[in-house]
Amino acid sequence: MVRGLIFDSGVGGLSVTQDIRARLPELKLDYAADDAFRPYGNKSAAALQARLPGLLWSLSHMLGSDFIVLACNTASTTALPAVRAALDIPVIGVVPAVKPAAKGSQTGHIGVLGTPGTVKRAYVDQLIQDHAAGCRVSLEGSVALVAQAEAKLKGQTPDRNIMAATVKPFLNQSPPIDHIVLACTHFPLLKDELSAAAGNAVHWVDSGEAIARRVEAVTVDKALPPQEMTRERADQLAFTTGTDISAMRQDVFKTYGFSKLISLAG
Ligand code: DGL
Repeated sequence: MVRGLIFDSGVGGLSVTQDIRARLPELKLDYAADDAFRPYGNKSAAALQARLPGLLWSLSHMLGSDFIVLACNTASTTALPAVRAALDIPVIGVVPAVKPAAKGSQTGHIGVLGTPGTVKRAYVDQLIQDHAAGCRVSLEGSVALVAQAEAKLKGQTPDRNIMAATVKPFLNQSPPIDHIVLACTHFPLLKDELSAAAGNAVHWVDSGEAIARRVEAVTVDKALPPQEMTRERADQLAFTTGTDISAMRQDVFKTYGFSKLISLAG
């Protein structure tokens, strides 16, 4: 049995997990949240490039992972080459869904909502040049929304003022923005709240399904050889580099199919 590791700075990768589970229900997954270093969105590229290869090497060896999903746009647009160079298993990154948004746009004006780190990275400029050359693209970064998504999954109600302030720069534009890319994996967890703030004229586009298709291609079509220890472990586990392993957080991870949340701190 092949098993994968989903990795993010926090609960954002759960939005991607949902799409992977919907497409590949039999696949065994583990999860790791780098809560101790979150948010990634305001960290320098150098800090992420220094941290991620070693952390992912350790986690994937500890868990016997056959592949990794770097379910974080900030990390993928910054540190994917460094992570791939350190590991000898496939690493699937998340690319902001600029291409489908530009393709679907009727007005020729799209928005990209990511973390401040992601929206300023050269990787995203290149993506826009390659796939949205005929479009106007408005970029906005938010770290407040990352905290809102984390809080929502701890049972708190997202703050409407933050939702309104986040979508405001995208509204009343000329030509109007008709598609907004959710370029941070935390943000699909707030899609209902963002939609309520922005109104029905906006389509939200994320990368979850594309990632699930990519995982299918890597695991099914290429039939990765399973590592020895993975055959024996039936449970699917979640890990945090932080200390919050409260009952409420355990329940969130259980909802997404991870039987236990274990702290690696200390
Ligand atoms: N979920 C992450 C992303 O896709 C990072 C959020 C953060 O830690 O700033 O960018």
